Amino acid sequence: MTLTGSNGRAGDRPAAPPLRIAAAGDMHCQPSRAEEARAAFASLEGRIDLLLLAGDLTTRGQPEQAQVLADACRPLDVPIYAVWGNHDWHSDQIDEIRPILEDAGVTILDRDSATVCVGPTEVGLVGLKGFVGGFPGSHLPDFGEPLLRALYAETTRDVEALDAGLKAVAHCPVRIVLLHYAPTAGTLRGEPETIWTMLGNDRIAAPIAQHEPDMVLHGHAHVGTFEGRIGDVPVYNVSVPVLGRDFWVFELSGLERAIAPLH
Ligand SMILES: [Fe+2]
Ligand SMILES: [Fe+2]
Repeated sequence: MTLTGSNGRAGDRPAAPPLRIAAAGDMHCQPSRAEEARAAFASLEGRIDLLLLAGDLTTRGQPEQAQVLADACRPLDVPIYAVWGNHDWHSDQIDEIRPILEDAGVTILDRDSATVCVGPTEVGLVGLKGFVGGFPGSHLPDFGEPLLRALYAETTRDVEALDAGLKAVAHCPVRIVLLHYAPTAGTLRGEPETIWTMLGNDRIAAPIAQHEPDMVLHGHAHVGTFEGRIGDVPVYNVSVPVLGRDFWVFELSGLERAIAPLH
């Protein structure tokens, strides 16, 4: 796999049309910004094939906030997949906001995988929120109080789900992992190192390094860095404040597995 701006390949096989994937995290939707959300999503009309939302869909996980996102998504005629962020859990109303989003055509990936056909290309998606946990030098241990061990076990379940999901979509010519928390410190640079433990964990990187999906997307680190890597796998922090715009549109040519981060 290469990261390039070129989609061309010599030979007599016609190139498949590039896949245009819009992504963003940390929209933090709320009623006072409903018009901004509507306009941002409307700007994607006719420009993309697939939309991926990397969590913190709402400000505090309240139904009226989810309704803002649902109303913005509903007019779009493309598949939309999302993962939860920590903000979406804050009001303990996940069971209330999930159907609001699903009714607008948003599929939530919560330790799940899915395949979606976009033209001739079958895209495999694996999505989960992820969690805190830290990076070399700051790992939370699997030791001591039950709460601390429960936190470690939560990420163990994430690692197992990601491994299973990537096995389930192994046949897809294009495979994308969608997270909220960061799987590498590379995309946290810019955030104070004292809070990196709260921004993600690198245990989740193991199945990514093993299965080598084409691209990993995450959010949560609002002042982190756009681009990082896990081995040869490109990792993008698509948090809206990092992007400095509403969405990033990736162009991905399925035959060559070449990803061009357009804008
Ligand atoms: Fe956020
Ligand atoms: Fe977050």
